[in-house]
Amino acid sequence: MARLIFLGPPGAGKGTQAQILAGLLQVPHISTGDLLRVAVSQETVLGMKAQSYMDQGELVPDLLIIEMIRERLLQSDANNGWILDGFPRNVSQAVFLDKLLKEIDQTYDSAINLEVPNEILIVRLLARGRKDDNEEVIRRRLEIYRGHTEPLIDFYRDRQQLISVDGNRPMDEVTDELKQLTQF
Ligand code: AP5
Repeated sequence: MARLIFLGPPGAGKGTQAQILAGLLQVPHISTGDLLRVAVSQETVLGMKAQSYMDQGELVPDLLIIEMIRERLLQSDANNGWILDGFPRNVSQAVFLDKLLKEIDQTYDSAINLEVPNEILIVRLLARGRKDDNEEVIRRRLEIYRGHTEPLIDFYRDRQQLISVDGNRPMDEVTDELKQLTQF
């Protein structure tokens, strides 16, 4: 059973690698960005509240995210492992996750941080071209990452649960290292 948290800036490859590893480990890949994009496309109340934050590259308010992730982690397919991608995104979300996991008698194995330099991130995201992948919004997402999400590296390092991986390599090399590190 594996319970992993994927950290890293926008474009680092969290979604790409989390999806591959989740397939190998046969656990759900839980991406808060994907859950939010589904909510936006279905025009749910959550989606309507989240859309403007996402379009501007801002974080969606914690209360909305916390409810969404609580509901997702309580689904039965998450009983036997998961990979979280894009959550937690700030220290208060990380503290909430610790509390929630305690409540449901779970814990995580490690937080995996994919490291990629800024200039490479921008090139990757512009090439992908998602709705929030234009230069202005990418720069804002990177600022938000440095200000709010990067502190989680120390948060998990202090707990001795951080694994850093060089994400600036061909995708299959990154996957191979992740497989080795997670022993699958
Ligand atoms: P989210 O969807 O989480 O976006 P993100 O963090 O900006 O991450 P990305 O999807 O851009 O990058 P990634 O690291 O997953 O890279 P990927 O594998 O796709 O969040 C979107 C928005 O939702 C946020 O801005 C916020 O508004 C909101 N949100 C989400 N979670 C939230 C939360 N917890 N709290 C508050 N708000 C939240 O790869 C990127 C590209 O690079 C792809 O084209 C891929 O093919 C390519 N690539 C990947 N690996 C490599 C490689 N090794 N070499 C070359 N190319 C590669």
